Amino acid sequence: MIIDLSGKVAIVTGAGRGIGRHIALTLAKEGVITVGTDIRQELMDELALEFAEQQLNGAQYLCDVRDANRIAEVVKEVQSRFGRIDILVNNAGVASGGTVETLKEEIWDANMDINLKGTFLMCQAVVPVMKAQRSGRILNAASFAAIVPAYGSAAYASSKAAVKQFTRVLAGELGPYDVTVNCYSPGMIPTDMNSFAKQPEERQQRLLETLTLRRWGSKEDIASLICFLASDLAGYITGTMIDISGGKLATQIPGMAYEAARKDALQS
Ligand SMILES: NC(=O)c1ccc[n+]([C@@H]2O[C@H](COP(=O)([O-])OP(=O)(O)OC[C@H]3O[C@@H](n4cnc5c(N)ncnc54)[C@H](O)[C@@H]3O)[C@@H](O)[C@H]2O)c1
Repeated sequence: MIIDLSGKVAIVTGAGRGIGRHIALTLAKEGVITVGTDIRQELMDELALEFAEQQLNGAQYLCDVRDANRIAEVVKEVQSRFGRIDILVNNAGVASGGTVETLKEEIWDANMDINLKGTFLMCQAVVPVMKAQRSGRILNAASFAAIVPAYGSAAYASSKAAVKQFTRVLAGELGPYDVTVNCYSPGMIPTDMNSFAKQPEERQQRLLETLTLRRWGSKEDIASLICFLASDLAGYITGTMIDISGGKLATQIPGMAYEAARKDALQS
């Protein structure tokens, strides 16, 4: 079985760096005409250079996901240049935080405006195109924080939990048009957004010990999931949230299996 995405047209938001950049490059290498957008021009310039060097097909646009007018311009431009939109990856996000007692109102607003409202505005602009095509895949970045929140993540976790519910609502609305809408919840993927892999060794170990698969997730892990969900193979999946966290919820004490495996190794 082969995942064939060639010739499809995708928009990936927040494609300037991190997971979004990797998703954009992976889709493009799979033959997808890939439009990357980001709020930072210098990151779009870097991505444009990488696309040119690797002779990948697509375009890069400066676009703040909070700006409905700019989104409308970009969607119109993508339609006129490439004719359709098959895949929308709402990856752009921020993760600033603070305890409820100390959280600044502007931090709360930034999380809600970028993570949640940005996803809504992008969908609102792209849905008419996908409805007219009677096909499409919308993939929204939620987070493991939407399942179990971390300390001090009120703004972020609330916005991502809302992305999950928004995803289900939209999936319900778009069923008759064969447009599927799903979200995914990455666990711990080292990127510039976080400092997972830069923390003192002991703290890294404590975090990794919460995982059934005791390793950080990678941008490749997320991009592979996106490729599958965006493909024809995933045509019967909609309204779901895929947990891609290395098994943070699989078992109560992941360390027990590692102790048993160590004993096994000593005995063999
Ligand atoms: N890295 C993780 O462990 C992890 C875990 C769970 C969920 N996620 C989610 O995955 C997504 C990507 O995370 P990442 O780690 O690559 O983050 P990142 O900070 O490295 O990248 C985010 C990108 O979004 C862009 N962006 C920010 N605000 C924007 C706006 N208003 N409009 C357009 N673009 C904007 C940034 O410029 C940046 O290029 C986010 O939605 C994040 O919440 C990440």
